[in-house]
Amino acid sequence: MEHNHVNSIKDLIKIREDYEREEWRFSHQVLVCGGAGCVSSDCRAISEAAAETIKELGLAENTALKETGCMGTCAVGPVMLIMPEGIFYTKLTPQSTREIIKAHIAEGRVLEEHTFYDNVLRTHVPKMEDITFFKEQLRIALRNCGVIAYDDIRAYIAKSGYMAAAKALLEMDGSGVIAEIKKSGIRGRGGAGFPTAVKWEAGRRAQSEENISSATRTKATPGPSWTAASLRETRIR
Ligand code: FES
Repeated sequence: MEHNHVNSIKDLIKIREDYEREEWRFSHQVLVCGGAGCVSSDCRAISEAAAETIKELGLAENTALKETGCMGTCAVGPVMLIMPEGIFYTKLTPQSTREIIKAHIAEGRVLEEHTFYDNVLRTHVPKMEDITFFKEQLRIALRNCGVIAYDDIRAYIAKSGYMAAAKALLEMDGSGVIAEIKKSGIRGRGGAGFPTAVKWEAGRRAQSEENISSATRTKATPGPSWTAASLRETRIR
């Protein structure tokens, strides 16, 4: 398999397995949010401070540093999630980032004063999974956003990215794909919520000398910004 060519589902699985093998050597993942909100609060300085500290403390062998899409709490950015403990640090500065990396990764201490502060409970809630804002969400389209590196396609493939596309292109015919879409009940995101399978069936029946692929893009707000965010943060689904 050429490095940048995927010709089969087996190729995708190999990319996933190679990536996972690479990842296993890291005991910690430092995920710095690189979404638009955090870019505007200078998350680049946070990434740089984290990278320098990891290097200075000799932690690079077992610590992966990644930038992700929006984690969903732009108002308290820049933010950073340290895995596998799932500790969510907020309102970072380069100085606090250095302190956190040193304490959390080199010394095994959570710096609670820099973790998420719940204004209702009036206390810090260090673990992301315990934060009410996250607990009440079921993410579907954006489930990988804030969790994987946004600039590494292998990270997306490791989360089964492109598997459905590969299955549709390599193992199904047009009518099988439409039948599957019909079963799913998926609809357009515009105001009409037009059934996708009906549109695709009509397109398939149409007689034309040209085959034109089309992607529905909603015209209504807040759809466009949601769609743009979805594409930017997860690249593609
Ligand atoms: S952009 Fe970082 S939390 Fe939204």
